[in-house]
Amino acid sequence: MAYETIIVETRDAVGLIRLDRPKALNALSRQLIADLNHALDGFEADDAIGAIVLTGSDKAFAAGADITEMQRLSYVDIFMHDFVAEWERLSRVRKPVIAAVAGFALGGGCELALMCDLVFAADTAKFGQPEITLGLIPGSGGTQRLTRAVGKAKAMDMVLTGRLIDAAEAERIGLVSRVVPAAELVETAVAAAAKIAGLSRPAVLMAKEAVSRSFETPLSDGIRTERRLFHSLFATEDAHEGMAAFLEKRPPAFQNR
Ligand code: HXC
Repeated sequence: MAYETIIVETRDAVGLIRLDRPKALNALSRQLIADLNHALDGFEADDAIGAIVLTGSDKAFAAGADITEMQRLSYVDIFMHDFVAEWERLSRVRKPVIAAVAGFALGGGCELALMCDLVFAADTAKFGQPEITLGLIPGSGGTQRLTRAVGKAKAMDMVLTGRLIDAAEAERIGLVSRVVPAAELVETAVAAAAKIAGLSRPAVLMAKEAVSRSFETPLSDGIRTERRLFHSLFATEDAHEGMAAFLEKRPPAFQNR
C-alpha cells in the first residue's frame, strides 16, 4: 500500500517502515502517525512477518511532533481529541520492533524510539527531548520511559536543559542497544530482525511480554509472570523441537506453534 508519509516494504519475514517527510525532517504529523499505525496494524496481522524495523532518513529518524501543526492547537482542541493517545499504538505492538536511528531523534522522535524494543543507532544519531525550549514538556512518554531507561540523572539533564546527546553517550547511558556505522544501520537492524523472525514466534512474543512487564510491576509479580510464561512454553512444539535440535546437534525447525 502507498502512504503519504511513510514507505513500507517487507524483507522476507521483516516488515520495514521508513518515516518519509524529508522536507520537515520526518516531523510527526497527524497523517504520519495515522500512516504509521495503519502499517503497524498490517504487520501485526500478517503471519508472515516476525519482526519490524522502524527507521527514518540519514538526516533524521524524526525531529519530533510537527510544531507547525501543534502551534495552531488550543488546549480544548488538544484535550478533546486526546492528542498523543494515538501515538501509543507502537507501544502495544506484540511483535518485536527495532528502531534504527540515524540523525535526529528529538522530542516525539526520541519517544517513538523509546517505545521500540531495541534501538540501534548510527554513529550520526542525536537524541534529545528539547520540548522545554518550546515551553512544553515531553508528551509521549519521554519523562517516563526515558527515566526508566537511563535513570534520573540523565533524564533530568535531557528533559530540563533540552541538551542533545550523541550516539556514544546514548549507548553509555542505556538508551540504545548498539551503535553501528551509518552506512550499515538499516542492514544491521534488518539482520537482527530477521534473526528474531526466524526463532519460535510464541517464545519471542512471550520474551518481549516478560521483559516489557518488568516496567509495570513489582519484582515479585514480574518474576511470577516470567515463570508462568516460561512454564507455558513447554506446551509449544517449538520448545521441545529447540531442545531436541540442540541435543541432536542440528538446527531447529520451528513451526511457530
Ligand atoms: C515541524 C520541523 C520540525 C518539527 C524540523 N522542521 N523539525 N517542522 N516540526 N519538529 C522543519 C524546519 O522548520 C525546516 O523547515 C526543515 O524541517 C529543516 O529544519 P532546519 O531547522 O532548517 O534544519 P537544521 O538547521 O538542520 O536543524 C535541525 C534540527 C531543528 C536541530 C532538528 O530542525 C530543530 O530543532 N527542530 C525542532 C526539534 C524539536 O524541538 N523537537 C521537539 C518537538 S515537540 P523549512 O520549511 O524552514 O525548510 C515534540 C513534542 C512531543 O516532539 C510530544 C508528544 C506529541
